[in-house]
This record gives sequence, C-alpha cells and structure tokens, in this order.
Amino acid sequence: MDRPLPCRLDKFLRDAIGASRADVTRLLAEGRVAIQAEGATTHPADPSTLVFPDDLVTVDGRPVTATPGTLVAALHKPLGVVSTTHDPLGHPTLAPWLEPLGPRAFAVGRLDADTSGLLLLTDDGDLAYMLLRPHHHVDKTYHLQVVGPVAEDDPRLLLLRDGVMLHGGPARARALDVIESGPHVSLIALAIDEGRRHQVRHMARVAGFDLLALERVRVGPIALGPLPVGALRVLAPAEYDALWHAVGGRDVVRQAQRDALHARVASAAATGHPHARLARWLAETP
Ligand code: URA
Repeated sequence: MDRPLPCRLDKFLRDAIGASRADVTRLLAEGRVAIQAEGATTHPADPSTLVFPDDLVTVDGRPVTATPGTLVAALHKPLGVVSTTHDPLGHPTLAPWLEPLGPRAFAVGRLDADTSGLLLLTDDGDLAYMLLRPHHHVDKTYHLQVVGPVAEDDPRLLLLRDGVMLHGGPARARALDVIESGPHVSLIALAIDEGRRHQVRHMARVAGFDLLALERVRVGPIALGPLPVGALRVLAPAEYDALWHAVGGRDVVRQAQRDALHARVASAAATGHPHARLARWLAETP
C-alpha cells in the first residue's frame, strides 16, 4: 500500500466526513477545523491548505481521518429527480438513495431533472474526479427519443458525427446508432466522452432534432441494464475495478496528484514563499 500523499484540506474533509464545498466553506469560516502539525495548532481559513499524512485534523475538537472510497452504486434515476441533496424549490432529490450509502456518498456528476437513467453514486472522490474529467475517454451513452423518422444517412446524424458548435466549443458524437426509426418517433443511441451541462440536449437541438426524451444507458463499462426505475444497485468489486481501469488505474491518479504537489512547490518558490515542508516531504517519499 502506497503511503498517503499530502492533500488539500477540502479534499481531506470530503474524504473524512463527506463535506461538500459549501460545508467546507462554512466549517472554515466558523473556525471549527484545526490542524496539529509539527508541534503547532492552526485554524486554517484556506481550503487549499495542505494536510500531511502525519497531521492531526479535528472538527469541533474531534479527530477525523480521511479514508479511501469503498463503493460505487448504480441508480436508475427517475424523471423529475434533481441531482442534488437539497432543492430550494422542493423537487425530489437524491437524498433517499445517498443516505443508505453513508455520509460520504455523492453523485458522480449530474443528470438533468428531465433525464432518466444511469447515475453513479460513490464515496470514492478520486474515482469520481477521474470519471468527470473531460475528454477522459470514458464514454457515456444516451438514448434519445426524437420526433419523426431517422434514416441511416440522415444529414442530422452527419452533423453530430462531424461535430456541432456549442457555447463551450465543438462537441461530437463518439458513437451514434439509429436503434429504431418510426414514422412518428425514433430512437437513437449517442455516446460522448464529456459532460458539459445539457450537452446532449444542446447537441440534438443544434443538429436539428426535436427531442422527446433522454435516458443515459451506460457510463464506461457500466450499463444501466434491466435495473428498474428508482432502483439502486451496489456494483460488484469487478465492476468497481473496471471503472478504475477505464480511467487509467489508481497509479495514474497518484502520479497526477504528485505532479500537482511538485507544481505547488515550484509556484510557491516562484512567488518567493517556498513550501519547504512539502519540498522536503516529496524528496523523502518516492
Ligand atoms: N446531457 C444533457 O443534455 N442532459 C443530461 O442530463 C445529461 C447529458
């Protein structure tokens, strides 16, 4: 087992107590977090403060420890459910599905309220981070129900294959199939490897489709399959490993985190405030 790396306080608190970004802001502003390090105790205000493996972090005076994630679950999100745990407008939220998975569980990204289908829930922040990185080649496949017939050589499909221009830049289908073409309604499968907000809806509209319904049926190696609407299924260990494999493996994350720490040392040095403790730690830890 590799030695844990120093990490940002906000990540540490997420991995220790499931604190959201808003929770972290509140806890720090209220001075409820303390770090005992190298014989001194501080009450950090900055969420990017580094926590080293030997430090003791307390929240409200109680020690907390960050442990790696342990599970991923597949939810068949029903229509009308928002992908958060609190909704000021009172819409149904993910809370009933997250609660049984423990206080640290959260949704990997989001589906629109009017999109149904596969949403992964996890307590593994590192895996979620990798799955959500754009252009990471983890395809997400959607079924689009559209108005009217769609022939194999429909020019709208060509547009989606070549790429359509959205506000955030071009977006193109990584895979596209006509599953069923009918006189009134057709079904298309479209895969993308990004997750921009409303991306599939925008792509369909710009290509000229009139979208009736949107469902996500696959995320990387995990298929929605016959999971009933509203049901939750904890993934088997082999499926959890397959997700990690799809994002390049745990070593890739560790290397990315080490690279970020080296970059932090370099930028601290460049601004005239060298991070001696971090530089020392990196030099001592292969
Ligand atoms: N793209 C969308 O437009 N909506 C979703 O919910 C997911 C992807």
